[in-house]
Amino acid sequence: MFNANTSSGQNLGKRLSMSGMRGNIYYLEDVSVQFGHITALKSVELSIEQGEVIFITGASGAGKSTLLKVLSGEIEPTGGSVKRAESDLKGKRIFSSRVFQELRLMERMSLEDNMKLSYDPTVYRSRNEFNQDMMELSKVLGIDDRLQLKARDANGGLRQKVSIVRALLARPDIFIADEPTSSLDFDNARKLFDLLNIYNVKRGMTIIWASHNGELVKKFSGRIVHLDKGRLVYSGHACFI
Ligand SMILES: Nc1ncnc2c1ncn2[C@@H]1O[C@H](COP(=O)(O)OP(=O)(O)O)[C@@H](O)[C@H]1O
Ligand SMILES: [Mg+2]
Repeated sequence: MFNANTSSGQNLGKRLSMSGMRGNIYYLEDVSVQFGHITALKSVELSIEQGEVIFITGASGAGKSTLLKVLSGEIEPTGGSVKRAESDLKGKRIFSSRVFQELRLMERMSLEDNMKLSYDPTVYRSRNEFNQDMMELSKVLGIDDRLQLKARDANGGLRQKVSIVRALLARPDIFIADEPTSSLDFDNARKLFDLLNIYNVKRGMTIIWASHNGELVKKFSGRIVHLDKGRLVYSGHACFI
């Protein structure tokens, strides 16, 4: 079930199965990431279960984006080990979708065409079903009347919402978003959280959301994983902070 990438601790796989970690999709042990002389992550221990809602918080430079990259497999740690589940307990392949901090849209394409890049015929029964989802999601976020705009002409908030809809349209098991509300006000951030929550409750989608705005995410429900200068210093629910 796990795709082991172990640069240390060869017995981890054995321990995993022995400790009965059912439902874990990520297991990080003593993970460090070094960029030259900069330590972006230091000895991070973290496990995440399928269906969890996780907020990764911390000041700018604390290592949030680096942690997301480690989770999504974009970078491998320079120390420690990462295990990522490849399939769920039923043997179904686990698929994750990411919203990048630097929103990677196709600038010359319309917002609608950007969203349509997520169409996967193995996920939807028909184009029609996909289009319906696309319109519904766009309506919930209040952007359905602006889908013909070219991405390059869209403002930050609109781009952010399009990137999120595009990621959700892929119907991922894991939704990873880096500062998804940096261009949104509180009402829009709340709308977005409510929408993701529906996917979490209905489809069991795991949510991993990085934000430097700890005060904002404390208003939502989920586990807070707080980083300070690359170290994981708190993991738990906001009500205990
Ligand atoms: N590709 C990179 N090369 C060099 N340093 C990097 C790179 N990515 C991140 N860093 C550094 O690692 C630290 C953590 O960065 P980052 O994970 O982006 O933090 P955050 O997302 O919390 O703002 C920062 O000091 C940053 O400058
Ligand atoms: Mg960042």
